[in-house]
Amino acid sequence: MALRRIDVNAEWHPSGGPKGLFLFGDAVERMEALLGEYEGRIKLIYMDPPFMTGDRFFMRVRVGEEQWRRGKGSFVQQSFSDRLDRNGYLALMRRVLELSRRLLSDEGMIFVHLDYRAHPHVRLLMDEIFGEDNLLNEIVWVYQSGGRSLYHFSRKHDVILFYRKTERYDFNIDAVKAPRTQPRTSHMRRHVDPDGRVYRSIRSGGRVYTYYDDDPVAPTDVWQDLPHLQQRDPERTGYDAQKPLALLDRIVRCASREGDWVLDPFAGSGTTLEAARRNGRRFIGIDACPLTLNIARRRLAGADYGILLDGAAATEGAPVCKAGVRSGVGFYHLMLENFEIDIPNLPEGAQSMDCVDNWSAGYLRPEGYRVMAEFARNKREGALRRELAIPAYAGELALCVADVTGRSFYFALEP
Ligand SMILES: C[S@@+](CC[C@H](N)C(=O)[O-])C[C@H]1O[C@@H](n2cnc3c(N)ncnc32)[C@H](O)[C@@H]1O
Repeated sequence: MALRRIDVNAEWHPSGGPKGLFLFGDAVERMEALLGEYEGRIKLIYMDPPFMTGDRFFMRVRVGEEQWRRGKGSFVQQSFSDRLDRNGYLALMRRVLELSRRLLSDEGMIFVHLDYRAHPHVRLLMDEIFGEDNLLNEIVWVYQSGGRSLYHFSRKHDVILFYRKTERYDFNIDAVKAPRTQPRTSHMRRHVDPDGRVYRSIRSGGRVYTYYDDDPVAPTDVWQDLPHLQQRDPERTGYDAQKPLALLDRIVRCASREGDWVLDPFAGSGTTLEAARRNGRRFIGIDACPLTLNIARRRLAGADYGILLDGAAATEGAPVCKAGVRSGVGFYHLMLENFEIDIPNLPEGAQSMDCVDNWSAGYLRPEGYRVMAEFARNKREGALRRELAIPAYAGELALCVADVTGRSFYFALEP
């Protein structure tokens, strides 16, 4: 079977799940392009932009069956570089925040995740763009992971600036109430009711107030109950700066409702998008690092989503690919027979097919490449599945092979 390399700008993953988009490219350019369809329609924006750290960030990628089975990658790839100077950084953030305000609906809210370096500068920008009166919280997320400094107090918190767009914002505290983790140990009297439930009471101003220990409570603006991901956390994708799903779950649930649009313009490993998908929200993620495409294909499985590519950056290279097709009853069986591409510094012993991270088969349609079956290596199935079955429809068969550096190669199958 002859394969013809093709350019694809959109890859669609149809399913019955929540709708979404993953846009590969620059945040400002992509947000400007979103205005046409989404201005005033986004309910929640969360962003975890670079923090002006001056550092480079990496992803530890798993290559081949063995590394997937052990759950540990040894092929380290740069994911992004956080090296803009202050002026460049603030120019980027100003534009992203101005566009965010335009994209938000009047009921919408925005959460901007920062650390001690960027936070004071961005706070002033946000006061200017959103209005000081629209600041709802400066959330302090406290964690314990990492080492301890001997030269100053260890930095163990991030700041999340939380603004509304207008007074009509639709905040839902009930959605994030949780059981109290520690019983009240205050001056209140302790009682046990006939059902055995513990409650406390206090008299104040002639009234008696009672509080049950097992009543759910609303979080305050200090979040200490959501640990950072540990080194061996099963949630880890290998992407530096990945945030815990529980953190995004709280934000998504309190600031949006089922069916609402959620946007993350610095999506990284796609934590916000996964939280949105799990909670039945529609989502849009943007990122400029090609490695994020492979993570998105795993984390967004089950959603009805599209990946929009942007020119050649995630598709350049000259692979050798061989595939075959067999007709079954109502199905085509596509076999990935070989895939080779030059990748420097692959782990010792890696075979050519080990550089395949994920692949899919489907059809070329006017709107782009429509995926009908896909396989991404995972901990249970680290070996590359070589055959995919897709329903036999009319149309041009195609496949996509993505390598461990995040490049996606598309081919049309010619009879
Ligand atoms: C701190 S990480 C986000 C991590 C994410 N919250 C997660 O849980 O994985 C910041 C992301 O911003 C992306 N990025 C930086 N500058 C960008 C730009 N101008 N346009 C689009 N993405 C950008 C980087 O590639 C990186 O993935």
